Amino acid sequence: MTGFRRDAQDSAVLGSLRLSQVIREAEVELPAYVYDVDGMTETLRSLRHAFGDAPHLVAYAIKANSAGTVVRAFAAEGAGVDAVSGAEVELALSCGVPEKQVVMSGVAKSDAEIDLALFKGILAIQAESVEELTRVLARARATGHRADVSLRVNPGIEIDTHAHIATGHDAAKFGISESDLAAAYALIDGSEGRLSQVGISVHLGSMMTSTESYAQSARKLCNLARERRPGAPRLGYVDFGGGFGIDYGGAPSVPPSEFAHTCVRSLRDAGLSDLTIVVEPGRSLVAPYGVLVARVVQTKLSAERRWVMINAGMNDLIRPALYSAKHRIELCDSSPQEPEWRVVGPVCESSDDFGAHPLGAEPSGLLAIRDAGAYGYVMASEYNGRALPSEVFLQGGKIVSVSRSPGRQAWLQRRLDA
Ligand code: LLP
Repeated sequence: MTGFRRDAQDSAVLGSLRLSQVIREAEVELPAYVYDVDGMTETLRSLRHAFGDAPHLVAYAIKANSAGTVVRAFAAEGAGVDAVSGAEVELALSCGVPEKQVVMSGVAKSDAEIDLALFKGILAIQAESVEELTRVLARARATGHRADVSLRVNPGIEIDTHAHIATGHDAAKFGISESDLAAAYALIDGSEGRLSQVGISVHLGSMMTSTESYAQSARKLCNLARERRPGAPRLGYVDFGGGFGIDYGGAPSVPPSEFAHTCVRSLRDAGLSDLTIVVEPGRSLVAPYGVLVARVVQTKLSAERRWVMINAGMNDLIRPALYSAKHRIELCDSSPQEPEWRVVGPVCESSDDFGAHPLGAEPSGLLAIRDAGAYGYVMASEYNGRALPSEVFLQGGKIVSVSRSPGRQAWLQRRLDA
């Protein structure tokens, strides 16, 4: 069994271990993220299976959860990586991801990051503007390399998601608009072989719970690939992007396999089945398999209001404050029951609020903030003098690694030194 569930004694379990026991055994201070790595790899495996015989590369969007234990586990399952910084490229390679399975996206790659990509020989730099392509060409000339590039297209498609995480519409900073593609092609074709187009890419945004927009974008991308192919003999892949949604408890999402089927169908319909399918999922592979465990500090009753103050805040998990996201919160020792309490953190901001949750008559002890395996730890900060949280990794029914919080002393020293 993988993921979050309750055992016969009503205790919260992740994978096959009780969360309270994990926290005790790992001897970590709270808050701490706990991850079920087996659940992550199983999801990756079933996504890969959904492509059938179609040549494909799952380029895990490493930004979602960049823990070495996770990236190494994915690498062992044959995943590639979509990186958005030089540091992420280096992390992927150091975790054993082959360089020809690493792509680099991002709208403002520095010269040093471009050089790194050229030097390491990754699958492709995914260019997001004609200006970037010009800079890649300049760096290739300066360093004596040839650059394999993919063009990330902005297809002008709005998806039904939070505005902060939509990237494929006309007003977004991401991708090359279709009207600029001719200029990008001309630059590549006039580069005397310094630039070689090996792919064409798209990423519409995050948290798509159905495949409609994804299919629309896939059709568009396949048409562009078909038109371009005669002029780009090394065109080897079509990258349909990530953004597969998950069910945070509020609304269902189609499973990742549906997105895979959409890619396979689109390429087949375009007569391009020999090209490799690349997808860039982040959240869907990791989010459901991570929880943030925190402790109840105290309750507060005021007029008609019931508050639960916990020792995790928006610095540990910023998604509720940033995207109005709702993560289910449950006590580790008892399943959800009325009444509801407003769960808030210690940070001095009103947005440090995790929403209302049924925590019973007298909430106390440990609680689990669910579906926090993606965009949790990686977006954490030390705001308000709070140390970064710890992380505990479970695999094969046991704790396989613990990354401890640097602690408040480390924070204190750095601020004193600043
Ligand atoms: N590819 C590119 C180029 C991306 O920018 C992203 C995510 C992905 C793939 C992976 O998307 P996913 O499959 O994880 O949806 N912090 C936000 C999400 C930001 C996503 C940024 N880009 C959140 O917590 O909801």
